[in-house]
Amino acid sequence: MEMEKELNELPVLQTGDLICQTSELPASKSLRFVLISPYGPRGAFLLHYQGHFRAYLNKCLHLPVTLDYDTGDFFTGDGCQLLCQTHGALYDPLTGYCNAGPPIGLSLVPVKISVRQGSVYLEQRPEDFPSGTFD
Ligand code: FES
Repeated sequence: MEMEKELNELPVLQTGDLICQTSELPASKSLRFVLISPYGPRGAFLLHYQGHFRAYLNKCLHLPVTLDYDTGDFFTGDGCQLLCQTHGALYDPLTGYCNAGPPIGLSLVPVKISVRQGSVYLEQRPEDFPSGTFD
């Protein structure tokens, strides 16, 4: 879906901004964006899994690195889980829960979104992030 891009090439979104149309994101695909946090811009991604849309910060819970190596590719080959490409941690797409790998038992940091009339919007406000999210 998405070509390899550097962080500074991704769309920068603020609360209320349109992320994409639901029809633009096929099942088991993802879309990266940058959101503005109290600590500056941070990478995040939107995913579509089994008719549901979720978004998370693009940061593994094991080490502070991106899940995808900046490829835009988050899903395992079978499209059923999210994969950290550094050490192979597996995360549930719908909950962000890590069910295998070094950060087992931890969960990706969710990003609030809404789906309205075929469009996905960013709803996360800077104050919504728990303290320590960006350590
Ligand atoms: S950095 Fe993700 S599993 Fe180690």
